[in-house]
Amino acid sequence: MRILIVHGPNLNMLGRRDRSLYGEKTLPEIDAALKEQGQALDAEIVTFQSNHEGALVDFVQEQAGSAHGMIVNAGALTHYGLSLRDALADSGLPVIEVHLSNIYRREEWRSKSVIAPIAQGQICGLGWDGYSAALKALVGRLKGEA
Ligand code: DQA
Repeated sequence: MRILIVHGPNLNMLGRRDRSLYGEKTLPEIDAALKEQGQALDAEIVTFQSNHEGALVDFVQEQAGSAHGMIVNAGALTHYGLSLRDALADSGLPVIEVHLSNIYRREEWRSKSVIAPIAQGQICGLGWDGYSAALKALVGRLKGEA
């Protein structure tokens, strides 16, 4: 089983961005932890981060055919990134949306996600644990255990 983990703009700055919102872990640390978790779940984890919406769309288009599901933290594109949203929908893959911070406790404009309507579910506000919970849930669903 192959799972794509897609990170949007500014997530490459984790560990240096506001740590009270986003936690201490860097993106390479999060990706490494998810790859280790993937091994235990018998799932291959492919991670990708870009600050550019088009690069994220290209990645989804190129990789979706050989993948089984996706975990997506689109960063600020969550709130307006319609071409990324369309690429995720076109992939036909189950998507779980993740946010480190609780987007409903912050500025009003962060409460709207254009990805949520095409996602199976959303986890936010749990820091990097949210990715881990999403991976467990997604693999469980794909194996028919959930
Ligand atoms: C974020 C929330 C977004 O509103 C913000 O633009 C981010 C990170 C999160 O993980 O909490 O870049 O997606």
